[in-house]
Amino acid sequence: MKIVFCCTNTKADLWLEGFRLALPGVDIWEWQAAEAGQTPKLADHAVVWSPPQAFIDEQKQLQNLFNIGAGVDALLRLQLPAAMNIVRLNDAGMSMQMSEYVCHAVIRQFREFDDYQSDTQAQRWSYRKPSVRSEFAVGVLGAGVLGSKVAEALQQFQFPVNVWSRSAKQIQGVKSFTGQVQLPDFLKATRVLVNLLPLTAETENILNRANLQQLQKNAYLINVARGRHLVDQDLLDLLDEGHMAGAMLDVFRVEPLPQDHAFWKHPKISITPHTSARTLRDESIAQIASKIQTVYQGLPIEGRVDKVRGY
Ligand code: NAP
Ligand code: GLV
Repeated sequence: MKIVFCCTNTKADLWLEGFRLALPGVDIWEWQAAEAGQTPKLADHAVVWSPPQAFIDEQKQLQNLFNIGAGVDALLRLQLPAAMNIVRLNDAGMSMQMSEYVCHAVIRQFREFDDYQSDTQAQRWSYRKPSVRSEFAVGVLGAGVLGSKVAEALQQFQFPVNVWSRSAKQIQGVKSFTGQVQLPDFLKATRVLVNLLPLTAETENILNRANLQQLQKNAYLINVARGRHLVDQDLLDLLDEGHMAGAMLDVFRVEPLPQDHAFWKHPKISITPHTSARTLRDESIAQIASKIQTVYQGLPIEGRVDKVRGY
């Protein structure tokens, strides 16, 4: 069993050590571009995050690309041979982190904690009228591995929760909306919009003026999926016009967010550096190693990406 590791911005050592423990006898190494005239060593499978095209072009025998993240948009931008499968990470500790992040952001807005923070700085003792929970419906775009868990977690706080996805979902206590036809009704019912869609040709720029202005007045946006879902200027305009009350953003069109971007200094925008649900090394190694063993048993594995659908 030969596995090559090619993960941009990731130190390889502990990953390689973990795979050697999880898959005794495995031949695993970190990819380096072959020198001119050198014959590259070819692997059967790869563990990847945002690899360069040169890696794909060289590693022609790969059966599976095991992505160490949930989103596969960076892989689908590459030219991949038809026979090369993409396998995404299924949760592996991400849904709990994502639930923490989204519940924090919703409660922070619902309980006006940012305003209390300003009061603290001004040494001002000031009560605010409690917000009405039934008027704080949370709408989750995407009800897959992460979105469905986030919808469940939000219910612990008794917010009304709706989800929007391609196919209908049955999540206890959650109303499911599907497809373009039901998108307007979903948006109109939403005070806090959470984006957990994959980035595909159909979902790129979905957080645009036409859609965001259908949200309820004083809407709040939580974008934890991809920066290219959001049309930045449309959000800025809707905040400045007062239709939207604020946003908590974890992902951006360009990362790191450029120093001169207007989001940094906007008083109604909170920023985190693409950290809402991190890849956890031990959980990811255990999941990928188990999937590789399943492949060798000739059985199907969870998380095979539909390359045409884009997720
Ligand atoms: P997933 O399991 O693939 O779920 C995707 C959901 O989106 C599904 O419910 C799917 O509907 C729905 N969907 C896709 N295209 C749609 C469309 N055109 N119209 C309506 N619904 C559509 O993905 P996941 O694991 O939950 O992850 C979601 C995304 O989160 C990832 O792709 C990644 O970009 C992002 N992410 C970000 C971080 C971070 O740290 N910021 C961490 C992890 C993941 P069906 O169920 O009907 O197919
Ligand atoms: C992170 O953004 C992921 O897709 O796992």
